[in-house]
Amino acid sequence: MRTPLIAANWKMNKTIGEALSFAGTFLDILYSQGGESFPVEIVICPPFTAVPALCATFAGKNVAVGGQNLYWEEKGAFTGEISPVMLRDAGCKYVIVGHSERRRLFAENDEMVAKKVRSALDHGLRPIVCVGETLEERDEGRTFEVCEGQVRKDLSLVKAQEIPSIVIAYEPVWAIGTGKEARPDDAGEVIVHIRETVNQVFGPGTSQNLRVLYGGSVKSSNIRQFMLKEEIDGALVGGASLDPEEFFKIALESKKAKAKN
Ligand code: PGA
Repeated sequence: MRTPLIAANWKMNKTIGEALSFAGTFLDILYSQGGESFPVEIVICPPFTAVPALCATFAGKNVAVGGQNLYWEEKGAFTGEISPVMLRDAGCKYVIVGHSERRRLFAENDEMVAKKVRSALDHGLRPIVCVGETLEERDEGRTFEVCEGQVRKDLSLVKAQEIPSIVIAYEPVWAIGTGKEARPDDAGEVIVHIRETVNQVFGPGTSQNLRVLYGGSVKSSNIRQFMLKEEIDGALVGGASLDPEEFFKIALESKKAKAKN
């Protein structure tokens, strides 16, 4: 059984004070609903400035913290970058890698993503690797091909035994921040294809231990349809993760949906 995972990607939002205010409210709600025994893993990826404060607040609690990006070197003359050693030092357990905004706005390519995934694993961070097609690629009928290509390249430096430490987030680019989520059946089909690709590359059955999330305009009112799918293990949530009540509802709906499965 794979543990469901709901991850918040705050992007470039929230000051330290705003992050702490979110954390206080979120912990209150979470601990009024089971706290330690809450059966969904929760990860929050704030801007780097808020990482230490959130790690301190969530220490010993059932909420992990992740970075939104990393560079693959440990240290050196890489102005503006952050290393896996620094993320670990600050208390991060996860790191988002290859988000479509990084690919589109900051020219990240699959070779860079592969190095980042390798570096994260080498330093004990769990990478949340984002893949997904653009609207143009979908219209051309290339969704499977694009996602398969990204998975093959992005995981090219990974060993089969490391698959359980990796999370893949399938995020169709056209669904991110647009309010237009994918149809759950469509997302499910792509995720099945991603799992088949992983089995082909790493060996039969490997993907049974791989968590694959859906991302793109997830909110508390639509998460259930995704989580009812056996092949979908959770969600990477952008806009709807900024509000503690709404983000908790997403986790709660996920718990209920998986309990039905
Ligand atoms: P969204 O973002 O939930 O605001 O669509 C998702 C993401 O970018 O990870």
